[in-house]
Formats: sequence, structure tokens, C-alpha cells
Amino acid sequence: MLRALDAQWARWDGWVQRHLPAEDNPWAQTGRLANWSLVLAVFSGIALLIWYRSSLHQAHDSLAVLAASGRSLGGWVRALHRYSSDLAMLFIALHALRMLTALKFTGARWLPWVSGVGMIVMVWFIGWTGYWLVWDQPARQIAVTSMGFLDALPIFGEPLGRLFLTDRLVPSLLFFVVFFLHMLLPLLIAVGLAAHLVRLTRVKLLPDRRLKIALVVALGIAAWMVPAPLDPPARMAERPEVLTVDAWYLSPLALASRFEKGGLWLAIAGVGLLGAGVPWLLGRRFAPRRQDEGPRPSALFQTTVEIGRCHACTQCEQDCPYDAVHMVPRTDGKPWDHQAWVDPTRCVGCGVCVGSCDSEAMHLPWFDAVAEEPAIQAVTQAALTQGTGPVRVALVAWDAVGGVQRFDESAWRRTLPGYQVHGVPTAAWVRPKFVERLLAGGIERVLVVRDGRGESAARDGNRWAEQRLMGERKPAFRPQRAGGHDDAIRVFDFTPGGEAGLQQRVAAWSAAGDGASTFSTARSWRGAVVLAGVLGLLLALTVGGSHLRVTNPEGVAPELVLSFKAFGPRETAATERSAEELAKLPVHMRGASVGKPHRLPVEVTLTVDGEANTRTYDAKGISRDGPAIDVWRVNLELGAHVVEIRLRDEAGEQRWQGTVEARERHLNVITYEPTEGFRLE
Ligand code: HEM
Ligand code: SF4
Ligand code: SF4
Repeated sequence: MLRALDAQWARWDGWVQRHLPAEDNPWAQTGRLANWSLVLAVFSGIALLIWYRSSLHQAHDSLAVLAASGRSLGGWVRALHRYSSDLAMLFIALHALRMLTALKFTGARWLPWVSGVGMIVMVWFIGWTGYWLVWDQPARQIAVTSMGFLDALPIFGEPLGRLFLTDRLVPSLLFFVVFFLHMLLPLLIAVGLAAHLVRLTRVKLLPDRRLKIALVVALGIAAWMVPAPLDPPARMAERPEVLTVDAWYLSPLALASRFEKGGLWLAIAGVGLLGAGVPWLLGRRFAPRRQDEGPRPSALFQTTVEIGRCHACTQCEQDCPYDAVHMVPRTDGKPWDHQAWVDPTRCVGCGVCVGSCDSEAMHLPWFDAVAEEPAIQAVTQAALTQGTGPVRVALVAWDAVGGVQRFDESAWRRTLPGYQVHGVPTAAWVRPKFVERLLAGGIERVLVVRDGRGESAARDGNRWAEQRLMGERKPAFRPQRAGGHDDAIRVFDFTPGGEAGLQQRVAAWSAAGDGASTFSTARSWRGAVVLAGVLGLLLALTVGGSHLRVTNPEGVAPELVLSFKAFGPRETAATERSAEELAKLPVHMRGASVGKPHRLPVEVTLTVDGEANTRTYDAKGISRDGPAIDVWRVNLELGAHVVEIRLRDEAGEQRWQGTVEARERHLNVITYEPTEGFRLE
């Protein structure tokens, strides 16, 4: 299924790329665009501080002024901040999906994968704290859900949820902590990103200027056209009927109402572990291998160096896109100081270094050039000896079609009539020396078909393949060694669905006089329209997902909520010891009895309209000397109710009696604290 999805993606990506150069194609730059969106979110967030007041009591008002003033600069900056954050999530999701379907999680890629999952969680949490700062009705849900989530852990003596039952109790300090988390956590993303990219070389963190500007313009227009929504201010005792939520960050709210607190932790931990565990769960199954072979242990797909052939030219070290080749001190006494060494924790088996090595020292175990090149040559020679006409060879990169499993040789023969088709792992696997040999042996033309996606599987390998065969990079193709052929090679891009385009280019090459040795899409008006369309689509998804109106999953039934903290009477229980037990104790500890102070349970009786219910609550604490704490919830019918509460604590019996008016979606909260007594909030 992953491969089928990848093929679908490649088709779409390929279609866009046929109109746009790779560097303008958003589909091929999802990681970089995620970064750029995060950068925009940081800058717009800093600008938003001009209007935003970071205090519990002023936050909503400061945003309400912006929302009420129609289209204003502040409102626009707010919408920019929101949509750029949403866009970051969208691009991260697309990037992760792309990496998943391209099977970029095997072997050494576990590190970018796991750090990527960590960064999704981090970015999501920053967004979650951001929506808290609005302090509107969805923010109330966020706060209540977060507290429920924390209260499921046995770390807090007093349930934090009690603080979010009434407006009076909501702690301003916590709001400030959330604000600081929201400001500071983005710094951690930089750390995550460093781990994410440490195993790649020549990483471009941000897209090209044109794409950057295009995204800013699209975002700016969207933020102007669709201002960010703002719900009424948070009232802790009121359950709103509908909420405007941002699906990109607030979807867990829907989950929270379906799971018990502990269950939510389990569900989240399960999904997180499953996500982070993909390299181990699926990695081995999808390790590179040939079509006819079964699954094999991961180490076998990595390149090995035959030291005896290495003359320490360092080309493989320069070319490896994964920083997996290093020059180490020589061990075999040959007259060079160094030799190449492949770091097995980094090599992903892409095959790029095979094409770097003129002396065939790099062995890709699942497609070793030492065996495969002569095999291809033998087939071409056989065709030559048949003498049925000129022999043309097409070396089709498996990564261009979505992996070796999707390579259909007979379909390729139909796509490229007149060519002898051979599959190779990636375009950069093709050693220029091998092409020289083919041409010197009498082959008329060599066509290399490479992965046409901007975010190609072999990263820089695509560039190297072209540059080597055009004589611009070492090891360079030497026409004099190829029997003087200098127009006999082409490197063309291909993405699934692009057969017709490839055929056109091949036909143009066949027609005498066409000199273009490689093909890449040029910029055009049509391309600009396609780019605008793709960005428009992405922004529609972003903005649409940011304005979801959902029914509040909490019930409508009014509730009576009694939240109390009470200390039961102290009791010092004496522990009698037998004469035998006393004899075992040291002399100074042989008092007649020892006592441990603890508190008796607190008894609470709640009477609603004459119907009484009594509960007893044990004191908290290891030696049961703390307070008894609980939130007692009772569903009420609509209308007025007479409520009586009796509670016996260390100060004696406490009583409250009064009438509460039960309204839909409303909580009638009564609190009890030893210092304050009862309070109808
Ligand atoms: C804040 C979130 C993220 C950002 C900003 C980000 C950014 C990037 C960038 C810029 C690259 C290098 C692209 C290149 O130049 O070829 C990259 C590579 C990669 N990313 Fe992410 N990423 C993020 C999240 C993720 C997630 C969630 C996953 C998967 C779960 C992931 C998996 C990978 C992998 C496997 C690579 C290596 C690709 C290769 O081997 O060629 N990333 N990321
Ligand atoms: S390219 Fe070949 S010869 Fe050069 S350093 Fe690498 S293994 Fe050695
Ligand atoms: S196969 Fe070669 S180029 Fe690719 S990661 Fe391994 S050492 Fe680097």
C-alpha cells in the first residue's frame, strides 16, 4: 500500500513538476516549506505581541479589539500567525507522509524519523499552548482537557482540575507559564532539527527565494481575506454549545472526550510509540533488495569497501548524500595515507558512491557493479552480434518508478521502443567508466532515466549523475575512451505518468540536431498558474481546517459540582506492642507504645431537594495526615433546587444551605476550603 501511495504521490508531483522547475515545486519541498512556515509563525508571533496582552484577564479583550475592528493590521498579523502555524503542521504532515511512502525510514534513517516524530509532538504542543493563550471558549476546553490529562498521573497531590471549575480560581500564574512555554519551546525545535538533519549532507533548510515569496504572498492574501475567528471569552462554569476549533492543533479535544483520562495517556503513548517505532516495525521489510529476493537483514543493503582497490581519491566521501563515507588511516600497507570506510550506522544503501568510484571499490551488495556491469554488457554484446541494427541502451533508475518492485521491464520496452532496457538502483549508480565501455563496445546511445521528483530518493545523487556524465564532475565521462562519442548520452527525468513527455524528449534526441543533453522544466506563465493553484489548494486546506465549527462534546445537562478540600480530625493511634516484640527492640525504643498521627476520614452529606447522599473521604498522604479532596458532581434537572451540604472536618460540622438555579450547559459550583468555608461560585 505504501508503494501504491508513493506512486500516486509521484504522479501528482510529476504532473506539477512538468510545469514547474523542481525548486519551485511545493510538493517536492515539504520539509523546507515546513521550516519556512515555522519561521513565518515565529516572526508573526513576535509581531503579534504589539497587540496581545499576556495576562489572563486581558488576553481575550486584547484580541477582541482586533476582531471587532474589522480588517486591521493587528488582525492581519494575528491571522498570519495562525495560518502560518497551521501551514507548518500541514507541511510537516505531508513531509512525514512523503517520507513514509518513499520508505525513507529504513536503517540509518531511524534518527531523522524518530527526531521528526519528536518534532511533530513539539510543534503540536506549541500550537496547543498558543490556543490556550486566546482564553476563549475553546481555550477553556484546552485547559480543562490538559488538567484532566495531568490529573491522570499520580504526581499532583491536589487535582489541578479543581482550579478550572470557576473563573475565580483559575491561576494567573499558570497562564503565564503557558505563555512562556509558547515563547520558549520554539527554541527546542532548533535542537530537534539539528538531530533531524545530522545524518544528511548539503541540506537546504529553506526553499528557494521564489517559492518563499510565493508562500508569503499566498499566506498574506489568505490572512487578509479570512480573518482568524475568535469565540466568546472563557467562562469556566459555562459549557459552550459550539466551538470554533483548529483541526490542525485541537483535534485531540475530540479524543479527550472519548477516552477516560488514563486511557488518553495510553492512546497517545501507543500512537506515539507506533509512529516512532516505524523504522523497527517496517524497516526490515522495506530494506532495499532485489525483486527476486526475500527480506534480508538490514546490514546487507549497505555498501562495503574493497580496500585493495581504493586509491584514496575521496570522491565517494564528497559524493555521499548521507555523510556515511569517511577517510580513515590506511591498513593494508598500500602507498596512500588513507582508505575509504563506510559507517554502517549512516549508510542507507542508496548506491550513489558506486558511481563515484572509478576503481570499483564500492560494492552495493544487492546490486554489485562488479557483477552487474558485465551482465548488462553481455546482453548488449549479444544484441550487437545478432547484427539487427544499432543497439541503444536505457538505464532506468528504480527510484524513478518508486522502487525496484515497481519496475516493469516489459512496460519500459514499450515506452522506449528501440532501446534495450536495464534497471539500475539510481542514476548515480551508473559509473561513467561503464558508459564509456558500453559506447566503446559499439552501443550507439546510452539513455539514463533518473528520478524526476524534486525531492528525489537519492538526494544529490541525481545532480552527480548528470554532472559526471556531462564531464563536469569527477569521475568524469571521457568521450575519447568511448570511441569519440560525445553526443551519445542523455540524462532525462521521469516520474510515473510522464511516459509521453519522456518519449517526446527521446524522439527529439533522435531527430538530428537536438543538442539538449538533459531536461529540466523551464519557468513559464503556465508554471506560475500551477504554483498559484497548488498554494491556493494548500491554503484552502489550512484555512478551512482552522475554522471548524464543532458541537461541544460535553453534555447539555446542568450539573451541581461540589469541590472541597477539608482536613479530618487528627487522631493519634497507639500501637500496643507485646512483651516479645519489646524485647527485640533496643532499650531506648522500649516505650510502652508508639503512635503515628493521622486524620480520620471526612464525611460529606449532600442533600438535593430532600434526597440525601453521604460519602466519606480518606485523608490523602502516605501517612494519611493530609486533607481529603474531591470534586463531587451531580446531574440536575432544569429549574430551582434546594441544596444542603454537611461536612465534618477538624473544626467540627460545617453546613451550607441554599438554592441553585439549574440551567442548560451551566455548572453550579460550590467550593469549600477550610479558610474560606462554603462558597457558591
Ligand atoms: C518540524 C518538523 C520537520 C521539519 C522542519 C523537517 C525538515 C526536514 C528537512 C529540511 C529535511 C531535509 C530535506 C532535504 O534537504 O532533503 C528533512 C529530512 C527528513 N525528514 Fe523531516 N522535518 C520535520 C519533521 C519530520 C517528520 C515528522 C518526519 C517523519 C516522521 C521526518 C522525516 C524525515 C526524514 C526520514 C528525512 C531524511 C530524508 C532522506 O533521507 O533523504 N521529518 N526534514
Ligand atoms: S571513490 Fe573509490 S577509490 Fe576513491 S576513495 Fe572512494 S573507494 Fe577509494
Ligand atoms: S550507499 Fe554509498 S552514497 Fe549511499 S549512503 Fe551508503 S555510503 Fe553513502
